[in-house]
Amino acid sequence: MAILDKHKIIEKNASLLLVFSFLVVTIGGIVEIAPLFYLENTIEEVEGVRPYSPLELAGRDVYVREGCYVCHSQMIRPMRDEVERYGHYSLAAESMYDHPFQWGSKRTGPDLARVGGRYSDEWHVDHLRNPQSVVPESVMPKYAFLERKMIDGKYIADSMKTHRVVGVPYTDEMLENAVADFTVQIDPWGDTDGLLERYPGAQVRNFDGAPGISEMDALIAYLQMLGTLVDFSTFEPVANR
Ligand code: HEC
Repeated sequence: MAILDKHKIIEKNASLLLVFSFLVVTIGGIVEIAPLFYLENTIEEVEGVRPYSPLELAGRDVYVREGCYVCHSQMIRPMRDEVERYGHYSLAAESMYDHPFQWGSKRTGPDLARVGGRYSDEWHVDHLRNPQSVVPESVMPKYAFLERKMIDGKYIADSMKTHRVVGVPYTDEMLENAVADFTVQIDPWGDTDGLLERYPGAQVRNFDGAPGISEMDALIAYLQMLGTLVDFSTFEPVANR
């Protein structure tokens, strides 16, 4: 066929083949990537999503430091088996304040994007102390030492400032109250009005049940809020409206 004969010209000329291949890949790349900057559901802001409270942020730091992401992803894909197991697929907006993001590429353990509220605090304490005590076949390491590592929130404002540099909208007011908000979140009898105004939906209680603020408190505060900020009973993607 005539058209296939013309293709021979490209096949016989390596440089020409290279130029055309480059062109095809460029067009393909633009078609795939450019719409992401305009598609509503990749740039939409979703009601309920807010920056982490100081205690949650401290817990997130423990999560990153301990390498939990090595075994746990935080991204539910929009496929039936995942949605049935973990809940609503993850929205881009839900990780908009994550620096670095925790999507992950390895699932030795389950996805944790919506683990918040799935278990009690006591379960988390038992599980982190000794995973095999609640799930005998678990290969997850023990993290009992987190209970004994107390934190005072001295560096939390610095951490928030750093997040502000990369675009998390922490206000001056949030920074000024960082230590107070950090401490009051584990104190159910404290004055939490300011905390709840700055971080709507923040859960207030003594997460590990022991006196003082330990890394265990912070980590459980973080785990218990994962995936709980968006109310999916009323959420409708902008693209569908
Ligand atoms: C070596 C891999 C590994 C590491 C590292 C690891 N986990 Fe796990 N995790 C697992 C496995 C496997 C399971 C499933 C069995 C179980 O529940 O223990 C699991 C389960 C969990 C669950 C229960 C999830 C669910 O939906 O049932 C939570 C919560 C959890 N891990 C948190 C953490 C945190 C926090 C860290 C870091 C401090 C961590 N894991 C580190 C392997 C790991």
